[in-house]
Amino acid sequence: MNNLKVLILDDERQFSEELAEFFQNTGFEALIANTKAEGLATLKRVAVDLLILDVRLPGANGLDILKEVKASYTGLEVIIVSAHGDMDTVIRAMRLGALDYLRKPFRTMDIQIAIERTEKFLLLQQRIRQMEEKNSLISKSLEEKIDRHLIGVSPQILKVLDLAMKVSEFPDTNVLITGESGTGKENIARIIHFASIRKDNLLCTVNSSSVTDSLMESEFFGHKKGSFTGAVADKKGFFEVCDHGTLFLDEIADMPLNLQAKVLRAIEEKKITRVGDTNQISTDFRIISASNHDLEKLVEEKKFRLDLLHRLNTLHIHIPPLRDRTEDIEPLLYYFNEAFSRKINKPTPRIEKEVVAMLKNYEFPGNVRELKNMIERAVILAHGNSLGVHDFPVKDKSKSYARTNPNRLTLMEQEIEMIRQTLQNLNFNQKATAKQLGISRDTLIRKMKKYNIKIRRNEDPS
Ligand SMILES: Nc1ncnc2c1ncn2[C@@H]1O[C@H](COP(=O)(O)OP(=O)(O)OP(=O)(O)O)[C@@H](O)[C@H]1O
Ligand SMILES: [Mg+2]
Repeated sequence: MNNLKVLILDDERQFSEELAEFFQNTGFEALIANTKAEGLATLKRVAVDLLILDVRLPGANGLDILKEVKASYTGLEVIIVSAHGDMDTVIRAMRLGALDYLRKPFRTMDIQIAIERTEKFLLLQQRIRQMEEKNSLISKSLEEKIDRHLIGVSPQILKVLDLAMKVSEFPDTNVLITGESGTGKENIARIIHFASIRKDNLLCTVNSSSVTDSLMESEFFGHKKGSFTGAVADKKGFFEVCDHGTLFLDEIADMPLNLQAKVLRAIEEKKITRVGDTNQISTDFRIISASNHDLEKLVEEKKFRLDLLHRLNTLHIHIPPLRDRTEDIEPLLYYFNEAFSRKINKPTPRIEKEVVAMLKNYEFPGNVRELKNMIERAVILAHGNSLGVHDFPVKDKSKSYARTNPNRLTLMEQEIEMIRQTLQNLNFNQKATAKQLGISRDTLIRKMKKYNIKIRRNEDPS
């Protein structure tokens, strides 16, 4: 296998070694350089895919090195390492074409996430031209900017993409994306950002549940030096950092109520005040938020502010669960099969047609992410040159399991299962289904509503 090569250019030896180990464990080939001269020499000698660059090398300006290497090596991607609080450098570096940044001191999580993201990016960059275009819904130029394709053929996903493309033309409209976990909310947020005129500025992703409560306000609004213990320098918050860009608020349901009030004010005024400061600073951002919770219910429970919800969902995009758009399963299956096979340098296995039928019958509680993981596993473990039903172990939650184990179901579950199965067998003809089940059509419709049984294409049963 042709491993991706990463060069770590940092004067701190121990740190470089630790980082190298991380990359090696992820399947990269890692090289280390501790000075600018050493680094440049290595780049000349070896075709490096990714450079991890400390912007604070003694005796050298990291941003100059960044500029220099980006100009000399077109295929080279750079992640910069910056000191905590040095967001200005980060912004300049991103404008100079850095792919990402890591902040010192490090958290293992951050490195892992950055590596994962980078690996996906690099692999797809390297291979994107060879990939099958057949099922891709978005334009080539956009694909290259976001690190992935959006695959699907169902009317639901086409509608989602259509809305995303439309709203990308309105760079000040806030967008709320809802959908179960793994349906592709972050994907859509990236598509909107990179298709909009904000694309050359930052897309800042903030997960409300990953920031500790005490630091939350400073993370969002920044702080003035000395405003609290630990505030050793002035710092910009997310709202300022993504000036002219997009702020992606992931899982907004987790945002504490007191912060919700402050975020609401920032959105309304487009001005913020850093913690410990009195000056107001103007900033221009679009908010894309995402949630897999029922926000209206949270509003009723007084856990989420209604006025904030109204501000955030100027446009609402809902991504239906994969089980409600089963037409997407097949193209996704082929796409991931091909992508993972290439990744591990195996010939792409053929997929037996029973697999598609079986997966179409599966609930996919983890949606596209689950399908993706399933295929990755199957491709890695596959022996022969084809993938069969046994390569895709689907467990308890599958519809197929329920069907083959009727004894384990409650009466109600059996009823649901029977209605679903009969509808499917009779091509969703409600009249014929009611007749076969020995109930009236009205009763059938009532039961479908009660059990939320959708007929194809997510239509309402009435
Ligand atoms: N239509 C699609 N085509 C290709 N890949 C997809 C599609 N939808 C989702 N994915 C992939 O599935 C994975 C999960 O998607 P994503 O992270 O966007 O989901 P999410 O809705 O943000 O999930 P969560 O709520 O758990 O954060 C990602 O790797 C993403 O690239
Ligand atoms: Mg997400």
